[in-house]
Order: sequence, then structure tokens, then C-alpha cells
Amino acid sequence: MGSILQDRTVVIFGGTSGIGLAAAQQAKAEGAEVIVVGFNAEGAERVAAENGFAGWRAADVTFISGALADRPSAQGTAVLAAASAAMEALARGLALELAPVRVNTLSPGTTDTPLLARTLGAHRDAYVAALTEKLPQRRLGTAEEAGAAVVFLMGSGFMNGETLHVDGGARLV
Ligand SMILES: NC(=O)c1ccc[n+]([C@@H]2O[C@H](COP(=O)([O-])OP(=O)(O)OC[C@H]3O[C@@H](n4cnc5c(N)ncnc54)[C@H](OP(=O)(O)O)[C@@H]3O)[C@@H](O)[C@H]2O)c1
Repeated sequence: MGSILQDRTVVIFGGTSGIGLAAAQQAKAEGAEVIVVGFNAEGAERVAAENGFAGWRAADVTFISGALADRPSAQGTAVLAAASAAMEALARGLALELAPVRVNTLSPGTTDTPLLARTLGAHRDAYVAALTEKLPQRRLGTAEEAGAAVVFLMGSGFMNGETLHVDGGARLV
């Protein structure tokens, strides 16, 4: 029986050393196309060449938290709010620990993506209608607006340890 990894593409963050590298090597041995991500470009390129991996990347880091970190709801989202706030604190800590790698966080407000229907089910439309009535711009954010903010964080070389809020002012109301 073939491996479940045969002909799959596997991307391993932290795959240039230690446990990540061992996992990358074993995934390759099982037939996967492996791409490793590290922080050091030269090291990642060398490790990929030595191991015959399909590719490598050295990346700055951008997390996505959410407006719940600043403005919790009363709708069973306390754990999500805590996780979002923790992510923002983690980014600030990692910006120091991983320097000179930059680590930032995008905090989107409610954004019109498939996530809403998946998590809210039949309540999605009523939730959106009630929310848009409250929001200063009377609409949800779009995936394109959030995506542009991620690209801005990635491309702005002196932006570091930052949480960028793209929420249409949701935190103000
Ligand atoms: N939409 C919002 O209103 C909103 C607001 C604040 C924060 N956020 C945060 O923004 C992020 C993106 O949200 P979104 O609205 O773009 O969601 P989405 O449309 O549901 O897309 C989620 C993406 O993550 C992938 N994914 C989900 N679980 C995964 C897992 N365990 N391992 C690997 N990939 C996984 C999905 O893959 P598949 O398609 O294959 O499942 C999909 O590509 C999430 O962290 C969300 O909490 C969203």
C-alpha cells in the first residue's frame, strides 16, 4: 500500500533543522514534495539542496488574530478572544526573540469569507445584518482588504511587533 504522503506537497515551517528537518526528510522518503521554511535564507537553501527538497523559503512572519482580542462578544467567543490576544503578545515577543526576522499581526474585524457560513450556519445572515447596522461603514470587511493589509505588513521593512487593525472601526462601537 502506498504512503498517504505519496505525491502530496508538504510545507514544513521550521523544517531546516532538528525535528522539523527530520520530519521533512521522512516526508520526502514517503514520496512527498517537500518545501521547508526557515528564517535564514542561506541555510534554508543549503538544507533544501542537501536533502533534495522541492523548495525552500525564508520568511518574515505575519499572524492573523481578530478584533475579538480588543472587543469580545457575549456569544461564546471568549476562548477565541484569548487566543487572538495571545497571538498578538506572541508576535511582540517573537519580534525580539527572532530578530532580525520581523513578526507582525493582522487583526481583522468580521470579514466576509466562507468562515462565517461555516461557523454560524443558518444564523449567518441574521448575524451579518445585525452587525452591519452597528458598524460605522455599515458593511463587513472583504477578504481583499484583509489580504492587502497582510501584504502591507510583509512588505513594510520597518514594521515589526505591530498589530494592524483592519476592522472598519468595529472596536469603536
Ligand atoms: N472571517 C472573519 O470574520 C475573521 C475575523 C477575524 C479573524 N479571522 C481569522 O482569519 C483567519 C482566516 O479566516 P478566513 O475568514 O479567511 O477563513 P476561511 O475562509 O475559512 O479560510 C481558512 C483557511 O484556513 C485553512 N485551514 C483551516 N483549518 C486548517 C488547519 N487545521 N490546517 C491547515 N489549514 C487550515 C482552510 O483550508 P480548507 O479550505 O482546506 O479548509 C482555508 O484555506 C482565521 O484564523 C480566522 O480566525 C477571520
